[in-house]
Amino acid sequence: MNNIKYLNNGRSALDLGIKILSIKKGSSILVPEIICDVAVEVIIKNRLNVVFYKLDNKFQPVWSDLYKKSLKNVSCILMVHFFGYPQNLKKFQKLAKKKKISLIEDNCHSLNIKYKGSTLGFTGDIGIDSPRKILNDLYSGGRLFINIKKNYNIKNFKKYKPSLFIKIKNRVKNQFPNLIKKIKFIGNRPNYESPYLYTGKDKNFLIEQMDEISKNNLKKTNLKKESIKRIKIFKKINAFAKKNQIKSVFKIYKNLVPMHFVGLAKNQNHVKKIFDWGWKNNIEILSWPSFYKSKNLNKHLIKKWRKYICIPLNQNFDLKNANGKISIK
Ligand SMILES: Cc1ncc(COP(=O)(O)O)c(C=O)c1O
Repeated sequence: MNNIKYLNNGRSALDLGIKILSIKKGSSILVPEIICDVAVEVIIKNRLNVVFYKLDNKFQPVWSDLYKKSLKNVSCILMVHFFGYPQNLKKFQKLAKKKKISLIEDNCHSLNIKYKGSTLGFTGDIGIDSPRKILNDLYSGGRLFINIKKNYNIKNFKKYKPSLFIKIKNRVKNQFPNLIKKIKFIGNRPNYESPYLYTGKDKNFLIEQMDEISKNNLKKTNLKKESIKRIKIFKKINAFAKKNQIKSVFKIYKNLVPMHFVGLAKNQNHVKKIFDWGWKNNIEILSWPSFYKSKNLNKHLIKKWRKYICIPLNQNFDLKNANGKISIK
C-alpha cells in the first residue's frame, strides 16, 4: 500500500478515492445491492452510474450476476466486507484484473486486521474504512488507503472539529454508560422496519481531515484486544440467538473485529418482536442499511432484507440478556 489519508469519515474517503482513481465520468460502477444510501450518494455525486449486483443470503456476490454485469462501460467494482466478515478478496481481484477495471475495497465495518495473508482495506486499488463507527472513543475517522501511483494533498481540507456538545456527550457517555443507555431507550423505538429510516440525512457532507484526538486514540487501539472483546460478545449473542430461533449469518474467527452480529429471523413478525425486546431491555438491535431512495428498489430484495437483524458488538450483552427469551407466536 502506497499511502494513507486520514479523513473525517468513510464517505469522504470514498469521495476522495474515486477522484484519485480518475474514473471516467459517465461510466458505471458495480455496487452490491445492499449498501447504505450515503455510499450511493457519493458515487452519483461523482457522475458515475450505479449498477447493482446481486448478493446471496450470506452477503456474498452472486458471481454469475457480477460477471454478467461487468460490461464495456463498467470501470470499477466496489466490494464490501459486510459487517466486518471478510469477503473472498482473491475472487474480486481476479475479476477486476480480467475485466481491466478498478477495485474499491470497502472495509467500513471493521478495522485493518490481518486475515488470510492480507490486511483488510489494503488490497484494492483503493481501500476505505470508518474507524469512527467501530471505536467508541473517536469523534471522526475514515481512512483512504491508496495502492496506485497517484497522490493527493489533503492539506487544504479543514480539520474536523468536534463541537463542545459532542465533547461533553462523549465524556458523560464514558463516565456514566448506564445512564446514557437508559436515556437512549426512552420513548418509542425507531421504525427499524423502514428501508429508508436514515436515508438522505447527510446530503451536503464535506471532505475534512480527521481530528488529532481521534487520530491519537486510533493509533493507541489494540486490534487484538478489540477482537477478543468482540468475539466474546458475539458468542454470548449467538447463545441468545439460538434460544430464540435466530440463525447467525456469519461465523466468527480469530482476529476478526466485526461491527455487528447479524441474525436471520423466521419472519417479519419475529423480527418485530426481536426489535421490541431489544428496545425494552436496553440492547441495541437494529436494521441495516438505510437504502438509497429509488423508484426501482427491488421488492424481493426488501422482502429478504426484512428478515435480518443486526446487533452492534460494541455494547455489553450480559448473562441476564443472554438468557432472555422472546415469546414467539
Ligand atoms: C458499507 C459502507 N461504506 C461506507 C459507508 C460510509 O461510512 P461513513 O458513515 O463513515 O461515512 C457506510 C456507512 O454506513 C457503509 O455502511
